[in-house]
Amino acid sequence: MLLDAENIHKKFQSGDGFVEVLRGASLRLEKGDLSILSGQSGSGKSTFLYILAGLIRPDTGDIRFNGESVNDFMPEKLDYFRNSEIGFVFQMHHLMPDFTAVENVMMPALIKGVSRNQSYETACELLSDLSIFHRKFHYPNQLSGGEQQRTAVARALINSPELLLADEPTGNLDEENAVSLIKLITKLVDTRGVGVLIATHNPDLAKAGKRLFRLSEGRITMRN
Ligand SMILES: Nc1ncnc2c1ncn2[C@@H]1O[C@H](COP(=O)(O)OP(=O)(O)O)[C@@H](O)[C@H]1O
Ligand SMILES: [Mg+2]
Repeated sequence: MLLDAENIHKKFQSGDGFVEVLRGASLRLEKGDLSILSGQSGSGKSTFLYILAGLIRPDTGDIRFNGESVNDFMPEKLDYFRNSEIGFVFQMHHLMPDFTAVENVMMPALIKGVSRNQSYETACELLSDLSIFHRKFHYPNQLSGGEQQRTAVARALINSPELLLADEPTGNLDEENAVSLIKLITKLVDTRGVGVLIATHNPDLAKAGKRLFRLSEGRITMRN
């Protein structure tokens, strides 16, 4: 098992009280599976993905990644986990505006300490796999929405993470670009054996996944 999230609770302060977003959410992900997390807007999908990625901490509950408890990671190990073991794609691509597409993709590898040449080479391979090699010297604002998201996927994959987490990656794309992004992600799952969890409120997208989870009232149920 790649990732095991067990009984996750998370509440946020809201005015005088609290909003309990996650109330015992659990899910297991296997290596090389494409899984979908569906749920209405506001159901807590982003919160859950951020917790899985070690970006925010749960109030209680444990995440085990390859058998190791993420809660116990020391800061240095947690940084490595976020940068190299997990790839994250946000709804809004979060590309750095002053860097070209290929430089954006290289960044996590450079942070990891990979040489410039090697980072560039790997970034170019990924941009080819995602059919945007010809856009490598473009800046984010010179890319279409679909191209920006594909660049963000390439960046999330450069350190060969075992798990790719994508938070509504097609949320700002038209139908055609959404379908093509999901096809590309599906291909990457098959060729690289990376596990993928995509959060979406779009019921159509749910069909793409091998495993379908649903987040509702703070808990996760499995649909198939
Ligand atoms: N940092 C925060 N502080 C307070 N409330 C938050 C915070 N983050 C999320 N929430 C609330 O938690 C609920 C779930 O949000 P979110 O995880 O973004 O849902 P989804 O991604 O499914 O739309 C919402 O009601 C949201 O307002
Ligand atoms: Mg969200």
